[in-house]
Amino acid sequence: MNLEEMLKTFPLPPAPKTPVRLGVIGCGGIARNAHFPALKTLLDLGWPLSVSAVCDLKAENLELARRAFPSAKAHTDSVALLKSDEADAFLFCLFPEVVEKLLPLCFERGIPLLVEKPVSHDPARLLAFAEEAERRKAVVQVAFNRRFASGAKAVRESLGKESLTGAAIRFWRRDRVASNFYHDTMVHAVNLAQYFLGPLTLERAEGGGPQSGSPLTPWIIARLRAPSGVACELDVRPAVGQDTETYEFFAQKRTHHWAFAAITGSQGGGRWAVLEGGQQDCRFDFNAALAKDPSEEMSLMRGFTHQLAHFLSGRGLPDFDPVSSLRTAWETASLSDRIREQAGANVNGH
Ligand SMILES: NC(=O)c1ccc[n+]([C@@H]2O[C@H](COP(=O)([O-])OP(=O)(O)OC[C@H]3O[C@@H](n4cnc5c(N)ncnc54)[C@H](O)[C@@H]3O)[C@@H](O)[C@H]2O)c1
Repeated sequence: MNLEEMLKTFPLPPAPKTPVRLGVIGCGGIARNAHFPALKTLLDLGWPLSVSAVCDLKAENLELARRAFPSAKAHTDSVALLKSDEADAFLFCLFPEVVEKLLPLCFERGIPLLVEKPVSHDPARLLAFAEEAERRKAVVQVAFNRRFASGAKAVRESLGKESLTGAAIRFWRRDRVASNFYHDTMVHAVNLAQYFLGPLTLERAEGGGPQSGSPLTPWIIARLRAPSGVACELDVRPAVGQDTETYEFFAQKRTHHWAFAAITGSQGGGRWAVLEGGQQDCRFDFNAALAKDPSEEMSLMRGFTHQLAHFLSGRGLPDFDPVSSLRTAWETASLSDRIREQAGANVNGH
């Protein structure tokens, strides 16, 4: 499947009717590796879009962003940029400590915002932000990109009205620092589980630190329960030696198996198969490393392109549904905290 075929299979929402000037604050790793390729895809498709301003404190990252978008004005002062009239909407690729400081100004100025997760590590603060956003009808979309990934879309569409009987998520990383992984990365798996199953309660969580000597440690395994009674098993591990990310959704007669390819050093691919009556029907199997432009294909497969398109396309509409709101980010943060707490102190300190 090349980029064109993927876009046919997973169409984008309609382009905005009027031109959009986007400002980007924070031009580090995730901006360059995932959001810039998504922007490039939309620009290549002729969307009425320009990156009018880029902002970063690090000269090197600012220069790389400026090279990616030569007509953008370069800034180092995010507050001054937000107070200017240089952009109609903003993308924040920043860490929570900075986002927490800038959000009130965005609310005050009514700035539509696509903001990288997790926004805040403090659930109480996140809830306060969510309530403030709802009160002001602020447009804030939190970049839990997997909700927009082709696999998520394919499985949800294929499930239709069929109800789930269970789910299992295995979310392993090659070599991450455990404490950082549990705070910053595990949230993706929790958020995706909530997307499919609704608000989840924690039934139990167990975990182990690296001292136990198994190649599969450290680890957390949690059992979550949906309002419908359906259980979801979550298995997250920060340092197993390879990237593995699989989502299994069990329905009455069929199992959907969606996975990001487990290729060490590359998370670009994706595979979706439907298992029924002993048969496995592979609906797509895609290796971004083989694509002409792997970063664009990776952004498409992982949901970054559809996420950005959804934000740009819908941000001006009344009753815009961000799919991933500050409130869902708060639900994710609270549940993730409970999982870590119940799994035990030994998984938190490493
Ligand atoms: N959605 C995902 O899959 C995903 C993946 C990786 C990271 N992230 C999230 O994205 C965020 C950024 O991660 P990253 O890997 O790009 O980090 P990074 O360190 O590579 O980039 C952050 C950039 O922000 C800049 N910055 C910091 N303070 C600033 C300020 N006040 N004004 C302007 N620029 C400022 C830094 O100089 C840096 O260039 C994190 O919150 C992380 O959790 C999300």
